[in-house]
Amino acid sequence: MADSNESSGTPEETQNLKLDGNAASESDISLDLLARKVQESLALGSRHKFWETQPVGQFKDIGDTSLPEGPIEPPSPLSEVKQEPYNLPNLYEWVTCDMDSEEMCLEVYNLLTNNYVEDDENMFRFNYSKEFLRWALRPPGYFKSWHIGVRVKSSKKLVAFITGVPARIRVRDQIITMAEVNFLCVHKKLRSKRLAPVMIKEVTRRVHLENIWQAAYTAGVVLPTPATTCQYWHRSLHPKKLIDVGFSRLGARMTMSRTIKLYKLPESPITQGFRKMEPHDVPAVTRLLRKYLNQFVVAPDFDENDVEHWLLPKEDVVDSFLVESPETHEITDFCSFYTLPSSILGNQNYSTLKAAYSYYNVSTKTPLLQLMNDALIMAKQQNFDVFNALDVMQNESFLKELKFGPGDGKLHYYLYNYRLRQALHPSELGLVLL
Ligand SMILES: CC(C)(COP(=O)(O)OP(=O)(O)OC[C@H]1O[C@@H](n2cnc3c(N)ncnc32)[C@H](O)[C@@H]1OP(=O)(O)O)[C@@H](O)C(=O)NCCC(=O)NCCS
Repeated sequence: MADSNESSGTPEETQNLKLDGNAASESDISLDLLARKVQESLALGSRHKFWETQPVGQFKDIGDTSLPEGPIEPPSPLSEVKQEPYNLPNLYEWVTCDMDSEEMCLEVYNLLTNNYVEDDENMFRFNYSKEFLRWALRPPGYFKSWHIGVRVKSSKKLVAFITGVPARIRVRDQIITMAEVNFLCVHKKLRSKRLAPVMIKEVTRRVHLENIWQAAYTAGVVLPTPATTCQYWHRSLHPKKLIDVGFSRLGARMTMSRTIKLYKLPESPITQGFRKMEPHDVPAVTRLLRKYLNQFVVAPDFDENDVEHWLLPKEDVVDSFLVESPETHEITDFCSFYTLPSSILGNQNYSTLKAAYSYYNVSTKTPLLQLMNDALIMAKQQNFDVFNALDVMQNESFLKELKFGPGDGKLHYYLYNYRLRQALHPSELGLVLL
């Protein structure tokens, strides 16, 4: 947990206990971290017994410009892909999780609600809703076989989970069908038993069976080797609650009422023609987004079906807004966020932190700063406590001015079986994983 910033008058000082007091040198920190990792792995040999066996960029190869960019291993003939699942310890069995089934979806929800990602101080735990999970796991062309659970044979209790969904992702000028791997979770009582590597190998096998050989994933931990390292920024919408639950603290020389005033927002959006996205907007939003995402080194290659699935508003899951020119009716700008609450662990007064996460935003006519301010206003209208954003795409251009403060959480992005010449700057990344 980092200390609060001692300077006064800036919003940073009221920010999170998830705050890293040293926001100025983020890239230095991640470079340092990488350098340290390299030294450790050289000095001590196998530090990543599993990941060192996988086709991912290895720490020892960082800076080796003779290695080509692209797939690390070629695809195998499908007949050579292992046909039977990997072995689990005897007490456990594989299950394919049918997310259409209310019962199965609830089991997954319960596993994640009690065992998924927590912050470093174990104050908050992600609480993805069932509807969110259904949305995240059933995009166009999804494979049921990539929703993988592990049960205890005797009791049938679900104790581990991992998923993939297919996505076309562009890396520079190559469009590659990848698996986006997510929701890796092992029950708290089964940790550190090397179950995670088996889960990862099994999802990889099932991805290979669909003739797909690359994957994208994120993690809070450093693994060999990040494609980029991002930082979360947080914009308080309900500062009193955030302070009460220990998400943020009152800044030096700040009172609660000054803090509330600092974060106050207008009741309704400022931009003329700002409205919720509707089904008939899908073609225009797709054109806008495709053009915009082209500038990033790594970004999804969205078609209209993808946009319909990922960006049409879905209550309590994803919100999308656009600017339609009052004169020409042209769609000129777009912004979106998804809903991911966290359980607040051990607070008497509050059980849930309602968080919005910046998703895809495009500005062509409305300045990005104004567009995102309108997004904040919509999130506040919907009673979110905090609006989170990574420093990906052009987000750095509005974070400070819109009173976001840096969090202490890093998010590392990884590619499986694809080497980049060198790690990207977060602003070169046009991909948001859930
Ligand atoms: C992540 C989690 C499944 C790992 O399981 P675990 O019991 O702690 O670890 P295991 O003994 O099974 O496996 C350890 C191996 O998995 C790797 N690993 C751990 N977390 C990982 C992650 N998030 N992604 C990929 N690999 C991971 C470790 O690096 C290690 O491999 P290595 O020796 O090559 O470094 C478990 O800690 C968990 O459920 N945590 C809460 C949810 C969570 O953080 N999920 C990941 C979200 S990105």
